[in-house]
Amino acid sequence: MKYEFTEDDLQEIEKIKAKYPEVKAATLPALWVAQNRFGHVNSDVQKLVAETLELPEAHVHGVATFYTQYYKEEKGKFVLDVCTCLSCQLCGGYDVLERAEEKLGIKAGETTDDGMFTLNEVECLGACGYAPMLQITNDKYVNNLTPEKIESLIEDLKAGKTPEYEQIEMPLRKVK
Ligand code: FES
Repeated sequence: MKYEFTEDDLQEIEKIKAKYPEVKAATLPALWVAQNRFGHVNSDVQKLVAETLELPEAHVHGVATFYTQYYKEEKGKFVLDVCTCLSCQLCGGYDVLERAEEKLGIKAGETTDDGMFTLNEVECLGACGYAPMLQITNDKYVNNLTPEKIESLIEDLKAGKTPEYEQIEMPLRKVK
């Protein structure tokens, strides 16, 4: 597959570049533009970002691989990052993760065959007071989970509904 930015993407990247004295500083937001466009930043997309910013590929690769929020391979439409760090673990994070595995028929780290869901087990997402919790595709936090709640969350997402549980909107860009 050949990856190309749209004219709108290129204009957005130019605007981002104009904000900074050095083009290297535009790497993170340019990678977000790329991830929003393609759903991931695999090595071909990293190359495209490097060419667009006229930076070495090694630099863009280094940034992309440092942050787990940048997906280095294709993911499901919904990426469920279930926290199992201490607070979430003590409040039943593994019960939530196991129920999600059962419901989706996959293990943590895998993607469903229909490409709808990727399930991940992740470290603390900084919302320990709402444990156990998960994050959906680098965006919404869904808090105070139970095994029953994650089942209905998955059903809601499959049906195209917005989950009705307590959430915190994160100021990150939404992945299409
Ligand atoms: S331990 Fe889960 S958000 Fe901190």
